[in-house]
Amino acid sequence: MSFVVAIDGPAAAGKGTIGRRIAERFGFAHLDTGLLYRAVGKRAIDIGRGVIDDGVAEIVARELTPADLDQPGLRSILVARAASKVAALPAVRKALLDFQRDFARRPEGVVLDGRDIGTVICPDAAVKLFVTASAEERARRRQAELAAKGEAPSFERVLADVRDRDARDAARADAPMVQASDAILLDTTELDIETAVAKAAEIIEQALSRA
Ligand code: DC
Repeated sequence: MSFVVAIDGPAAAGKGTIGRRIAERFGFAHLDTGLLYRAVGKRAIDIGRGVIDDGVAEIVARELTPADLDQPGLRSILVARAASKVAALPAVRKALLDFQRDFARRPEGVVLDGRDIGTVICPDAAVKLFVTASAEERARRRQAELAAKGEAPSFERVLADVRDRDARDAARADAPMVQASDAILLDTTELDIETAVAKAAEIIEQALSRA
């Protein structure tokens, strides 16, 4: 069985960066599962000219290929909102399940980050982390990220968006964002990214030495 690291948590808490850095450090493959929902959301709003049809979203999810995850434009606020909407559709989540489980079988070991990796996708993961931070700190980070890409929304708008998405991701009936009972909580509000990565790496070293 593959060594699986599951990293869940809300937007902009640091899970993507931690996942990428952990994968580099340990030679694991990394899948940012948010990109799956973003790619589906983007295609669905493109097809519907701004309006998401549930049936269209399901078909798009079934036809998703790895190449779709490399397209530009997946990190915008608009696409994040669309992703959060299609992520609430059980048929979309079901269509994306095999893609994620196939990835998790890669023999070199894997890191998957998302919202439901430790609870639904890989409940037997060797390491489960729930990475979080205060909504204000996450909005500050997201605003800096967007500014680096030339988008300049106000702090209030980004914070409202973060809160909106948290609420939708945590409230949905199917695979809501929730800390798995056996996940380790990593609160990065007061941590810089180096320290957060070091803490995650330490937890993984311990698990590897037991494996
Ligand atoms: O992590 P992110 O911001 O790229 O995720 C985009 C949206 O996709 C997020 O609002 C929730 C959804 N998502 C999900 O429901 N399950 C996952 N495993 C990953 C993301």
